[in-house]
Amino acid sequence: MTDDLKQLIRRLPKAELHIHIEGSLEPAMMFELAGRNGIELPYPDVESIAQAYNFNCLQDFLDLYYQGMSVLQTRQDFYDLTWAYLRRCKQQNVMHCEIFFDPQGHTERGIPFETVINGIGTALEDATTELGISSRIIMCFLRHLDEKSAFDTLEASKPHLDRITGVGLDSSELGFPPSLFQRVFDDAAALGLKRVAHAGEEGPPDYVYQALDLLGVDRIDHGNRSLEDTELIERLVQERMPLTVCPQSNLRLAVVDSMSDHPIRTMLAKGLNVCINSDDPAYFGGYVNENFDALVDATGLTGDEIVQLVVNGFESSFLDGPDKRKYLDQINELR
Ligand code: HPA
Ligand code: ZN
Repeated sequence: MTDDLKQLIRRLPKAELHIHIEGSLEPAMMFELAGRNGIELPYPDVESIAQAYNFNCLQDFLDLYYQGMSVLQTRQDFYDLTWAYLRRCKQQNVMHCEIFFDPQGHTERGIPFETVINGIGTALEDATTELGISSRIIMCFLRHLDEKSAFDTLEASKPHLDRITGVGLDSSELGFPPSLFQRVFDDAAALGLKRVAHAGEEGPPDYVYQALDLLGVDRIDHGNRSLEDTELIERLVQERMPLTVCPQSNLRLAVVDSMSDHPIRTMLAKGLNVCINSDDPAYFGGYVNENFDALVDATGLTGDEIVQLVVNGFESSFLDGPDKRKYLDQINELR
């Protein structure tokens, strides 16, 4: 039975809407790029990198994540990183992806914005023609940095808006509420950009309200702690607000105590518009299919629920109507 479900997961075309491209940096590539760029890593070999990943909260993970991305230096590095992720997508039948990147994680270390966006953007372009994968780019502001830095980043993005669909908000959540970024999100909206924000991963339901009311988001990233507030749940259901849920991330960052405690089935049963994503696959133990597999093994997720989650992913994407329809028709034929 679970084998049938795992086949179903593999057969279905999928969309991924919550993936930090820097979080797809596998230890082997980190080691290779460190060598290529003459950077000293605090690890003797590839195996000890993965062994160091014993974080149990968001901040411990983020410290390693920012250290890891320091090996990314050239346009080619960003191209190679993105291309490796896209090849995984192809293997997993992830046919559409909306990729986050953290410009300030690079500009703060002297890497020009254009080096980053051109490397990522060219790989995504090549994937359209060579792999048949469609994509969007979402630029995230690091919420542990100040508003001025976010405004500078928005300014730096202006020559590249043909490549950028939206803005997001990520990094350390507690103590950095969405309200701090209301003005920069207003400016992003005026530029015609979509808006998303991480909220309710470690932060309280109030941060989800702020993301909705002050930032005007089109999606909430994570959103798990919305379950603590009945009125908020009702509103999210009514607005069909997407929540991009990341099960293996939730487990590794102790948002849930065990995978069998993951609330995904409860979320579906309440009518929430949830979909499944990998977040930082190189750090959390898997890509989209492994996240589905883990839910099947631990929570008894059914075939109908799998299809619903996959449908929600395409419906919540920034694809245009006809492209959404194309994927939804394919899913209908396979279910
Ligand atoms: N939460 C917040 N910031 C992040 C994450 C996350 O899960 N991954 C990469 N940056
Ligand atoms: Zn994330």
